[in-house]
Amino acid sequence: MSQDLSPVERAKYVAARRAAEFVEEGMQVGLGTGSTAAWMVRRLGERVREDGLKIRGVPTSTRTAELAREVGIEVITLEEAGWLDLTIDGADEFDHALNLIKGGGGALLQEKIVATASERMIVIADAAKDVGTLGAFPLPVEVTPFGWPVTQGLVEKLLAAMDVPGRAVALRRVGERPYVTDEGNHILDLQLGRIEDPAALALALNQIPGVVENGLFIGLCTLVVIGHGDGRVELRE
Ligand code: 5RP
Repeated sequence: MSQDLSPVERAKYVAARRAAEFVEEGMQVGLGTGSTAAWMVRRLGERVREDGLKIRGVPTSTRTAELAREVGIEVITLEEAGWLDLTIDGADEFDHALNLIKGGGGALLQEKIVATASERMIVIADAAKDVGTLGAFPLPVEVTPFGWPVTQGLVEKLLAAMDVPGRAVALRRVGERPYVTDEGNHILDLQLGRIEDPAALALALNQIPGVVENGLFIGLCTLVVIGHGDGRVELRE
């Protein structure tokens, strides 16, 4: 199967399959969003159907919920679960401290709530997402549709005050229309280049009233399963 895939897709595939091995009988599992997470959901579905693995999954987006049901995973809400043993999710970037940028797929709010409600978060990623300093990938920030241009202005002011380089801030669009998240919000993508102090930026962004959540995941991930194009898998703790 993995032989038919491009090197990047193979890297995602092998990382996802390795991470799925951390899921054990009876667990309540947070199911991430994105192409890498989709491989993991498919693999868990195989284990449910073929090995009779009993798990309950809390998806982090409507897309993931649909896929999870399709492959035979019992889907429950976070309210029903209350807590989770493990969340496995993708990322857009991770650094040496295992801080992350997430939200490229627009699901950062549910992803952060679910990861925070989990005993453990494992990230699955291809090796290209391994960076020394976060920020080459535009940082997604979820904002309320109400007054979003004002919120954008406040974000720009904050970046200037914090002397963050780059600073181009753009509303994510699908064609002409603003992108709408599962929670009915919009996303600002912040082109920053380098984020020297991700923890400080994450805290400061969330002080702005129209900001719902930002895509910096600080101190949530404890293990990254890194896939390589040649099929190798590396674990980074
Ligand atoms: C969605 C995310 C994804 O996990 C992230 O964008 C990585 O996606 P992919 O696995 O498709 O590269 O944060 O909001």
